[in-house]
Amino acid sequence: MTTSSAATAKKRADALRSDIRRHEELYYVYDTPEISDAEFDALMRELSALEAAHPELVTPESPTQRVGGRPADGFDTAEHVVPMLSLENAYSADELREFHARTCRALDLPEDAALTYICELKIDGLSIALTYERGVLVRGVTRGDGERGEVVTSNARVIRSIPLRLKKPAPPVEIRGEVFLPRREFERMNEEREAAEEAPFANPRNAAAGAIRMLDARLVDKRGLRAYTYQIVPREGDHADRESHADALKTLTEWGCPVEPHWAECAGIEAVIAYCDRWHTERKTLAFDIDGVVVKLNDLALREKLGATAKFPRWATAYKFPTEQARTRLVKIDVNVGRTGRVTPFAVLEPVWLSGTTVGMATLHNEQEIARRDIREGDTVIIEKGGEIIPKVIGPVLDEEHAARPKWQMPRQCPFCQSVLAKPDEEVIWRCENVSCPARIRRGLLHFASRRALDIEGLGEAVVDQLVTKGLVRDYADLYHLEADAVAELDRMGKKSAANLIERIEKSKSAGLARVLYGIGIRHVGEGGASALARAFGSMDALKAASQDQLEVVPDVGPVVAASVREFLDQPRNVELLNKLAAAGVNLTAPMTALAIEPQTLAGKTIVLTGTLPTMTREA
Ligand code: IVH
Repeated sequence: MTTSSAATAKKRADALRSDIRRHEELYYVYDTPEISDAEFDALMRELSALEAAHPELVTPESPTQRVGGRPADGFDTAEHVVPMLSLENAYSADELREFHARTCRALDLPEDAALTYICELKIDGLSIALTYERGVLVRGVTRGDGERGEVVTSNARVIRSIPLRLKKPAPPVEIRGEVFLPRREFERMNEEREAAEEAPFANPRNAAAGAIRMLDARLVDKRGLRAYTYQIVPREGDHADRESHADALKTLTEWGCPVEPHWAECAGIEAVIAYCDRWHTERKTLAFDIDGVVVKLNDLALREKLGATAKFPRWATAYKFPTEQARTRLVKIDVNVGRTGRVTPFAVLEPVWLSGTTVGMATLHNEQEIARRDIREGDTVIIEKGGEIIPKVIGPVLDEEHAARPKWQMPRQCPFCQSVLAKPDEEVIWRCENVSCPARIRRGLLHFASRRALDIEGLGEAVVDQLVTKGLVRDYADLYHLEADAVAELDRMGKKSAANLIERIEKSKSAGLARVLYGIGIRHVGEGGASALARAFGSMDALKAASQDQLEVVPDVGPVVAASVREFLDQPRNVELLNKLAAAGVNLTAPMTALAIEPQTLAGKTIVLTGTLPTMTREA
């Protein structure tokens, strides 16, 4: 290679990197993309190709290097140099006024002193500390208990809104912020968990915490985590050029860090209260969930004077929005039957308006919960909407007639196939054990065909209902034997749509092992687990031959998922289904990665290094 071609390559790589970062920032930080996804991909591909040809040009902060290595087992923990404190809460305007009065007293100011506060949206996520050295992201640590957190650097690197390199030269610095899941991603994650019969996350915070702690950064990458930063942790001698929190937020923005744009400078506590009221009503316009407003004193010198208690800084408070509740009549309690036969009760309500939507249904979890809360058909009930998609019933309003209403009982027969429902004594979940129950087949097919599984567009509820009722489809494999003429006879179908549907079903044969594993609905196997298994084993045959131990060592699998996969594969009925799928031509292998083709010399081995390495930190 000539020197000039190397120099040209370096110049081009630098230009591409700064271009890519600019577009990442526009897309992930400001939601104002300037180029299409395809154009962005083209830039990434060009950079990857350039780096492949000139490996010496690859730097850890190159956008191609977001997904890097993964820790072998769990996460290291690290102590925070400055503890990550929590915030005291205020639940009303009066408590905000009290916070202001307290602050003034502590500063020896009259209680009507005109202090300036910065109000920021309180994002429902988890806090993270990001360390930059020479402008490069070297470490990400979760809050943990405030003193020690988990080192999640490789996962922080896949959060696209977090810059791998700051845009401007900066002193060594720790930047703190919030990692969160936008509402759409949160809902998607919960839908997926429900499909895998796992309890949905109660709020985006728990979901984000679950996602950032996944062991395989490639899976974290798929989750769509985002981050906003809100604090520069002052180092000795630093912050000389910053007098206010507003300055700090502006500096963060200049460094290319994501700052939630709705922050505002409020003169006096009444302006703060107005800001809180405004966002209580407008929160639904945001793409992510907030649970309040963080109110921070703007003047950094005053902050220093105030200091902190053992738990909270005295210069800030978190205003929490009241949880939204409504009352309505519980018309009746109905049950759904899921793909694996799980029977779940739900409340049919007299429609009522609650935080921006009309609610006609609510979750009731299970029979035990209904008994514990003594919820009866006909009761007036209180419902509540938190982060979850469907509201929940909190409990009945005990009126005079409540005691006279009969207690609710789980039906003894499946409402869809009339077979007797079963529940082992030690469990709380009732199940319909009939594998041919139309409700089970229907739910299973809808999941199998869903976008993230086999992605068969056009196989929606109306079509699935008819296919099942007419006995044309009894299991997933039957889909691949459907004939266009039979499909064309379904209601609202016709020849053209039938041909389209058959074509899409045909196309789904090549979706690959990960999607099939997710689609066939093994308990506890979500999209992440399915890809991990597909990547680790490469084919359904290899997976079938795997022992529980071999399954368990796959990152993000673990004993529960492993046991469930083993149990599924040990059932002759399921093996038969898989054979039927294979015979129909469904691809049950995963694309081979470079790694999988090599002989797996180190597979299954645990290697412990002691001492230090000359060129690598422990974390790396
Ligand atoms: S400042 C010492 N600003 O809320 C002050 N926190 O309830 C540190 N949070 O642990 C926090 N949005 O995880 C701050 N704009 C924001 C925030 C925010 C969300 C979280 C954060 C903190 C918790 C306290």
